[in-house]
Amino acid sequence: MCKTPSLTSLAKSAGCAAKIRQADLAEALAHLPISSDPNLMVDHAGSDDAAVYRLSSEIALVETVDIFPPIVDNPFDYGRIAAANALSDIYAMGGNPISALSFVSWPVEVLGVDQLGKVLKGAASICSKAGISIAGGHSIVDPEPKFGLFVNGLVHPDKIIDNSGAQVGDCLILTKKIGTGVLTTAAKRGELSVNGLDEVILSMSTLNDEAACVMKEHSIKAATDVTGFGLLGHLGNMLRASSVKFNQPLLAKLYFAKIPLFKDVEFLLEKGLCPSGSKRNLETAASLTTFSTDLSSEQQLLLADAQTSGGLLMAVPKEKVDAILNDLRSKNVLESAVIGEIEIGSQAGSIQVEL
Ligand code: CO
Ligand code: CO
Repeated sequence: MCKTPSLTSLAKSAGCAAKIRQADLAEALAHLPISSDPNLMVDHAGSDDAAVYRLSSEIALVETVDIFPPIVDNPFDYGRIAAANALSDIYAMGGNPISALSFVSWPVEVLGVDQLGKVLKGAASICSKAGISIAGGHSIVDPEPKFGLFVNGLVHPDKIIDNSGAQVGDCLILTKKIGTGVLTTAAKRGELSVNGLDEVILSMSTLNDEAACVMKEHSIKAATDVTGFGLLGHLGNMLRASSVKFNQPLLAKLYFAKIPLFKDVEFLLEKGLCPSGSKRNLETAASLTTFSTDLSSEQQLLLADAQTSGGLLMAVPKEKVDAILNDLRSKNVLESAVIGEIEIGSQAGSIQVEL
């Protein structure tokens, strides 16, 4: 009898690190016609987290999809992480999730269906925490396993939180630690401790619902979640979209020492444990990013590390920062930190990183 292979051994790249490079994606998306439907309030043009379609003056539909290959070997955890990651884009837009569909591609002959059942069970457990159910889905046979959800949510058309509302003087708050790409790559190569793996799985399977709730209570206008393009990539998208909206070039200053990081990530990077998606991200971000000379190459890579089910990144007016941080802590979003601020720059989307 042959042993069943582990889930991650069948994945070419893990989690959101499997994303297509931003520049390549932009080139392909240029072939998509721009919709003239006035009810399509948010489309693909601004690289936002989800599309938003106005159904009435009171209600808009938020639509998103996220699918990726296994990021951990435990099928139940893989399902939980994929579900939390997919739901995150609804929360990042200020929406309330209402339903989900699942997508599965699965090497049935290699893995059997028992593990697939556990993936679905894991996803269902997170959907249940979010107050929704998986209503249906689609499945195909594929040598590389993949799983994810299409999620629908609702939002009031006047209360959409998109990635284009960041303004000069805003502070940037991040609500989860950075480093999931490095840690899951280390786990795949057997270089991560059991505690380290537990911590990163807990973070990736935690919903961004509480953070989103705080954001809505404080009427925050701009947010995104940090996923496959890394902190620099998603922050860059926010800066570019906001620069267009306010017709002025916005830059972000980041303070490396304030960014919440998982334990041992720099050490693991020094050992060469880095997903190729994170290296691609850093190449993409390089032209618009200035690192102070005291930042090591590992620290630079971390800022580009492809996150799976990362935290929310919000741009908040300075006078609201203390109250927001207090509310985040009281809702147990304990890793939240102010990591930088928005200023006027000379080039839209540039990022300066200090130690
Ligand atoms: Co997103
Ligand atoms: Co996505």
